[in-house]
Amino acid sequence: MDITASAMTDWASVPRHNLPAEVAGFIGREREVEEVERILPRTRLLTLTGGGGGGKTRLALRIAANVERGFPDGVRLVQLAPLTDSALVPRAVASAVGVRGTAGRPLLATLVTALASRRLLLLLDNCEHLIGACARLAETLLGACPHLRILAASRESLRVPGEVTWRVPPLEIPRQSWGNARPRWSLSRRSRPWRSSSSERVHGGRTSV
Ligand SMILES: Nc1ncnc2c1ncn2[C@@H]1O[C@H](COP(=O)(O)OP(=O)(O)O)[C@@H](O)[C@H]1O
Ligand SMILES: [Mg+2]
Repeated sequence: MDITASAMTDWASVPRHNLPAEVAGFIGREREVEEVERILPRTRLLTLTGGGGGGKTRLALRIAANVERGFPDGVRLVQLAPLTDSALVPRAVASAVGVRGTAGRPLLATLVTALASRRLLLLLDNCEHLIGACARLAETLLGACPHLRILAASRESLRVPGEVTWRVPPLEIPRQSWGNARPRWSLSRRSRPWRSSSSERVHGGRTSV
């Protein structure tokens, strides 16, 4: 749904969130969910970092769904993975929040106007390949929209002032979940080159400001 920045009274008709329904089971992560939900209210930009496939997106989606009711204007997911051009980042955000551009005005300026008084959580997923554009967007929006909060999932941090980064630890699948979650492939012991001592593994999230 599109609304123009000037049609602010239409905001109430915008769906509260655009989060996808979970189609696969969500395993574990109780401690991580709890910790990130504790940190989120204390910062306006929280970036979940870590390697590809480490569970950043799933964790961010789960947290966004959990906290949605705490944001009067809801939660908006901006999925950046398909974008190849940094210039399209503001457009992706505008589309996610239902804001249409105005001829002759930079879209980011229109977004600032539209979000200026919104109590909204923006979830920016897969920032890493457009990190500069995401950083500029986050800095501009957070500077102009005092009630806006951003949760980002990215292999690297945005390096924006005030950002809190939280490193997502590797997913540990609990024994009781193996029946549902065991991968259909297996490797013999001899072909596990990564077998390593527990001291080499990253434990828990680290918070750095
Ligand atoms: N808590 C979880 N429970 C079950 N599957 C998970 C969980 N976290 C991640 N996965 C699965 O692991 C894969 C990678 O997770 P994803 O969140 O996409 O990682 P990242 O965003 O860090 O690249 C996906 O197939 C995802 O569904
Ligand atoms: Mg991801």
